[in-house]
Amino acid sequence: MYILGIETSCDETGVAIYHPQKGLLSHDLYSQVSMHSDYGGVVPELASRDHIRKLIPLVKRTLSESQLDKSELDGIAYTAGPGLMGALLVGATTARSLAWSLQIPAIAVHHMEGHLLAPMLEENPPPFPFVALLVSGGHTLLIRVDGIGQYTHLGESLDDAAGEAFDKTAKMLDLGYPGGPKVSKLAEKGTSRFKFPRPMTDRPGLDFSFSGLKTFTMNTLNSTDKSEQSKADIAYAFQKATAETLTIKCKRALQQTGLKTLVIAGGVSANKQIRAELNEMTHKEGAKLYFPRLEFCTDNGAMIAYAGCQRLLAGQQENLEIYAKPRWPIDSLITL
Ligand code: KG4
Ligand code: ZN
Repeated sequence: MYILGIETSCDETGVAIYHPQKGLLSHDLYSQVSMHSDYGGVVPELASRDHIRKLIPLVKRTLSESQLDKSELDGIAYTAGPGLMGALLVGATTARSLAWSLQIPAIAVHHMEGHLLAPMLEENPPPFPFVALLVSGGHTLLIRVDGIGQYTHLGESLDDAAGEAFDKTAKMLDLGYPGGPKVSKLAEKGTSRFKFPRPMTDRPGLDFSFSGLKTFTMNTLNSTDKSEQSKADIAYAFQKATAETLTIKCKRALQQTGLKTLVIAGGVSANKQIRAELNEMTHKEGAKLYFPRLEFCTDNGAMIAYAGCQRLLAGQQENLEIYAKPRWPIDSLITL
């Protein structure tokens, strides 16, 4: 069963082919980062236009790398949401039309379910049940996962997502877009000169808030000489506060659920400091931490091919409708 995965929810065009027994045959990514960086963030209309230009050539390349003809495909999985409407529509219409012409099924995949299942592509996949921390540019979610589609919401950010906070901090520090990796790099030169708050950790519950950290960053920056060292110290303090806040909530979620397996996924899970803090905490708690390889932390087609494949294997079927849902709660997904 060869499944083509298509990801176009934001600023990366991702395509992959996954087979349940043979694994991942090939995966390709075209990043629009250099195009959007001139504007300091993703420009939705430009993103859609670029997906249109890049998607079909990328599908052809992935097929040829897998030494497959399109007639050998058995199904097509596409990201149907959440994401940018125009960008989603490019992937959804391409996937649905191609599937229709090949007379094979197409399946709408939830982008965050894709992220959540990305660690399943690794050699030692996490066993169910587990707690998952999904941290991306648009989401900060803590969920209990009992199986594919069996998701219990534990907590989420009440305002900015963790990735968004990294991106906004980068902007304040004149680092440009996308901010996460740049803040992280600058933080390597920073010292523990500033101490930032750990938002919402002094009260019970598993929700997050990152917008206060943004204001704190701005106020701290304005109180300094804005030198490179001051900026590095701020990047360090911001990253440390974010990592510790996420870690405190994950520890609480493990204790609350009694589970001993933690999965982190989504773009922010590429962050070394966050990984290190979570690693230390899970070790102390007698729990185990799982995360995807670096290239599958951020958006990619492989996670969509994998998630879609699981749903098709379980017999999930859809009509010929083209689904594109900019907002789509993950706990509303069909249980397998
Ligand atoms: O999952 P993703 O590629 O796209 C969304 O679904 O949003 O996540 C992108 C987010 C961006 O906010 C980016 O700044 C952040 O992930 N990110 C990082 C790192 N790499 C990417 N944040 C912190 N540290 C990183 N190394
Ligand atoms: Zn994503």
